[in-house]
Amino acid sequence: MNAPDAFKSPEAFHQYIHEQHMHGLWEISGSQNTPLPTPEAVPHLWPWSLMEQVVRQSCVTVPVGNDRRAMQLYNPGLGGRWATTNTLIAAVQVLMPTEVARAHRHSPAAIRFIMEGNGAYTAVEGERLMMKKGDLVLTPKWQWHDHGNEGNETVVWMDGLDVPLVKMLDAFFFERYPEVTAPTTRPVGNSQALYGNAGVMPTWVKRQDAISPLMVYSYDKVREALHALRDEEGSPYEGIALEYTHPQTGGPALPTIGNRIQMLRPGEKLKPRRVTGSSVFCVVEGSGRTVIDGKVFDWVPNDILALPSWALHHHENTGKGEAVLFSINDRPVLEKLELYREAAE
Ligand SMILES: [Fe+2]
Repeated sequence: MNAPDAFKSPEAFHQYIHEQHMHGLWEISGSQNTPLPTPEAVPHLWPWSLMEQVVRQSCVTVPVGNDRRAMQLYNPGLGGRWATTNTLIAAVQVLMPTEVARAHRHSPAAIRFIMEGNGAYTAVEGERLMMKKGDLVLTPKWQWHDHGNEGNETVVWMDGLDVPLVKMLDAFFFERYPEVTAPTTRPVGNSQALYGNAGVMPTWVKRQDAISPLMVYSYDKVREALHALRDEEGSPYEGIALEYTHPQTGGPALPTIGNRIQMLRPGEKLKPRRVTGSSVFCVVEGSGRTVIDGKVFDWVPNDILALPSWALHHHENTGKGEAVLFSINDRPVLEKLELYREAAE
């Protein structure tokens, strides 16, 4: 159609602009200028009873080759995107005794949260980080890392990465190390020795602002911190909730992924609210329930739960003992961009 013909009727005009890759705001306003966020991701729970079977079978069916034996948790609302929420991907990775997951690096940042087993390590930039159940291990962006299991237990952990965010920004880079493992250049426990001591820091270390130099947050210490606060009121929305922080700045441990742990005391039922940004929860201890936009998700240890942006949600402890939830979120990004909001009902 040429322009003069197209301008003879409104229908022809619209057909013409669409052919030229243009749309009037009046055509899309109803669906796009929404008063509230409209995430495509849906709340979803992956029960450990299911994941455990699948993960154990993957040990039989799939060898550890060039890629990790990591089961990616795809959000049912995201149409096959490599994403657990709009911005985060979570996976369940398993490594059997003697196995090595070969070295690589990538521009997305990663965390590991250990779900089952002891004796494996993640090596990051020359330091072997020993992984114990409940520990949080960081793998910041573009640092060489490999995993190995020199113990005699099968080890399972949750991976959490900002892959969907980095893909959305077209900033995804990936590289394999030429050898199976990158060389070890620092002693085991080095980052914890330097940066993991409450309130004191070696005077000769340089300050790093963006990425935490502490690479392992051990559950022994974190659990002790939670229990030391058990008689505090805590947050009405999160209970006794702690952020894993950068030891030098007090900010988030990673610039793109926030990490939290929260304890709900027996009988505790938190208040509902909405926040911008999404989270993925991994149950550490106890049992309870999370209600998201009216849908009830009952959980037990190692269940993984996706919480989309702006969904009304609350948690409650339905068990006899304490319930503990670990979670990752994209809040550091939203806060940096001044897009973080929350609203209580
Ligand atoms: Fe990786």
